Amino acid sequence: MAPVKSVCFIGAGFVGGPSGAVLALKNPDVEVSVVDLSETRIAAWNSDALPIYEPGLLPVVKEARDAEVRPQNLFFTTDVKGTIKRADIVFICVNTPTKTAGIGAGKAPNMAYFESATRMIAAEAESDTIIVEKSTVPCRTAANMREILKAVGKPGVNFEILSNPEFLAEGTAVADLMKPDRILIGSMQTPSGLEAAEVLANLYGSWVPKENILKTNIWSSELAKLAANALLAQRISSINALSAICEATGADVGEIAYAAGLDSRIGSRMLQASVGFGGSCFRKDVLNLSYMAETLHLPEVAAYWQSVVAINEWQKSRFTKRVISTLYGTLTGKKIAVYGFSYKKNTADTRESAAISVVKDLIAEQAKVCIYDPQVTKAQIWEELDINGCHLADVEKFVTIAQNPYDCASESHAVIVLTEWDEFSNKDVVDWEQIFDIMERPAFVFDGRRVIDAGKLQRLGFRVECIGRGN
Ligand code: NAD
Ligand code: UGA
Repeated sequence: MAPVKSVCFIGAGFVGGPSGAVLALKNPDVEVSVVDLSETRIAAWNSDALPIYEPGLLPVVKEARDAEVRPQNLFFTTDVKGTIKRADIVFICVNTPTKTAGIGAGKAPNMAYFESATRMIAAEAESDTIIVEKSTVPCRTAANMREILKAVGKPGVNFEILSNPEFLAEGTAVADLMKPDRILIGSMQTPSGLEAAEVLANLYGSWVPKENILKTNIWSSELAKLAANALLAQRISSINALSAICEATGADVGEIAYAAGLDSRIGSRMLQASVGFGGSCFRKDVLNLSYMAETLHLPEVAAYWQSVVAINEWQKSRFTKRVISTLYGTLTGKKIAVYGFSYKKNTADTRESAAISVVKDLIAEQAKVCIYDPQVTKAQIWEELDINGCHLADVEKFVTIAQNPYDCASESHAVIVLTEWDEFSNKDVVDWEQIFDIMERPAFVFDGRRVIDAGKLQRLGFRVECIGRGN
């Protein structure tokens, strides 16, 4: 096969942008274009105010994009069709959110954007092209793509489909892309499929050790991505289920996770009890897997994975109920300070953040909610509450945004930590003594992330309630 000259990423989002940037940085001889339909997104990628907050990403983008220290080989553009025509490899990185209407609503992934990208490639490609599924898709998606490509593609143009799921986590995307645990490439086990997998492996081979590049059959690769996210989410739901037992018994979930995690068969990561996992993928992908099981007539399997999501929903409402009962059964008129709105630290992404459910419940209790997050804007919080069923009139009436943790906590009855931003752990920026002085009495802190030093806060006079620790 001829050397790869031009690569296209469709979808300039959390995956397409950073993945394209790192591939370009590590393959200076390859032209990498990241395309999107959204003009504002592309304009932001072409500026120094990138559309996503991701530590360490700007220098990577600038080096490949700005042609100061080396020839430019990273481009962000809305010219989707022109870019596809030139590309030897096209990565599809579009969103695959959960369906909100129709068959499978609330469970199945909405594959409309993915299919539309596939059709666009089929219609535009003028020479043989490798198409890479980078979006997270149901197992056997490649079979559907193959039919579309065959029916729509130009005569004489051959397509090879690969599955190459992305495993980066937000907040650590650059580090994850620079040093991935593994690169997974699934292909058809035909000579041309295996050859295409080799071409893609060579691109990654510029910076990823050969032994970390795993090649499988295409269905295993598609399913492995859903499996990985389901297993990670399942660990969090498992530790969160244990956190409820801890609160009722006097055991401490941090000690449980540590003791269990020292067993090398269990391991210590992804066992941090919390107010509930968020983010655009865990819920969506576990539901995707569960729905797949349902359609394969495996109801027990579907119910098993569904329970991972059910525990997560329960954990969020359990947390708010604890806040309400501890504050003497009523929040009406009380100011509640919410620290953190993003779904985890080091990202401004709020999709499926546990904070959304908690704030909704606080509004329903007619609390005066004040939110402080170091990265999330008021407009984004408003939009998120709006699309998640809060009436904007209620949001205007009950919610305010603070620019710092002190204004947020001033005259409040309780501080609720919902995101583990470093500045909330009292080793860091927030002066909890000052916070205590400006709060109502008794001053409560509810730690949904187990990031604060509860002993120190109690010595300052706070009443402290932590996930996974009883009193
Ligand atoms: P995103 O919403 O941030 O970005 C998707 C982009 O695709 C949007 O900018 C949208 O405008 C664009 N788009 C949609 N249809 C298009 C089309 N036909 N042509 C051109 N552009 C189009 O989504 P994301 O978070 O980057 O996720 C993308 C996929 O990767 C999903 O399947 C997700 O499950 C998976 N994934 C995400 C992450 C993550 O951390 N966010 C990690 C691993 C895998
Ligand atoms: C997750 C996976 O970790 C990635 O491998 C995957 O590529 C990605 O989903 C995806 O497919 O989108 P991400 O959602 O960005 O990445 O972040 P995580 O660090 O996994 O955290 C997800 C949620 O779980 C966050 O709300 C986090 O606070 C929570 N969490 C995480 C816990 O409550 N406890 C933990 O121990 C770990």
